[in-house]
Amino acid sequence: MRRVLGIVLGGLLLAGPLPAQEAGRKVAGQCRTCHGLDGIAAIPIAPNIGGEPAAYLQAQLLAFKTGAREHEMMSVVAAGLSEQQIADVADWYAAQNVTATLTAPEEDAPELCTACHGVDGIAVAEDAPNLAGEPNIYIVTQLKAFRIGKREHAVMSEIAKGLSDAEMRAVADWYAAIDLTAE
Ligand code: HEC
Ligand code: HEC
Repeated sequence: MRRVLGIVLGGLLLAGPLPAQEAGRKVAGQCRTCHGLDGIAAIPIAPNIGGEPAAYLQAQLLAFKTGAREHEMMSVVAAGLSEQQIADVADWYAAQNVTATLTAPEEDAPELCTACHGVDGIAVAEDAPNLAGEPNIYIVTQLKAFRIGKREHAVMSEIAKGLSDAEMRAVADWYAAIDLTAE
């Protein structure tokens, strides 16, 4: 135990704190009550954001800031962040090391989604978010927002328009059942 701790601490000391990471961690202090410091959601309505592509996180925060995407909490949070803080906090969360573990047989994964969101909900496409372990309700809400045009994206809006409510719940169940942990 002692030895392991020594190695871990030694590693931290050797690596030293990176200034950019420090800046991101500081901003993340404003996010932790809902998203956790490691990006594993701390409240049921908030999505997991740890380990997602930085470009995706940055784009969503800018969308909340400009009003292109709206949410009572996030619009307020993003309005208070500078573009530099958005870049820093996106880097902080993107750098978190997350692990997804399937709880159901791989062949049940929704084929329509896996090319971009992965079988295990860890994004394969650079501009796509992870879905692993997101609450069902969050996934369904976003799919419905794409379907009615409240949230817009060339690919996702089309996909969501082709899904019934029952299909949305089924794909949401797949991704929600995946266990996501951060190191
Ligand atoms: C009071 C709770 C709360 C706080 C504080 C908060 N968030 Fe959120 N965040 C949410 C909720 C709820 C959503 C889901 C919004 C929706 O349903 O569209 C969200 C969504 C997001 C998304 C979109 C994720 C995705 O997968 O599309 C990002 C990125 C995000 N938050 C980043 C942050 C950052 C960075 C901070 C701190 C600077 C922060 N949030 C602070 C509650 C919060
Ligand atoms: C061709 C690639 C592609 C496919 C296939 C695809 N998605 Fe997406 N998905 C994306 C991208 C890119 C985004 C980010 C949209 C944005 O920037 O707002 C996204 C966003 C989402 C979001 C919002 C997540 C969040 O964190 O806010 C959900 C939910 C989602 N997709 C579910 C699905 C489901 C379910 C399927 C299968 C039925 C699917 N997607 C198929 C590319 C894809």
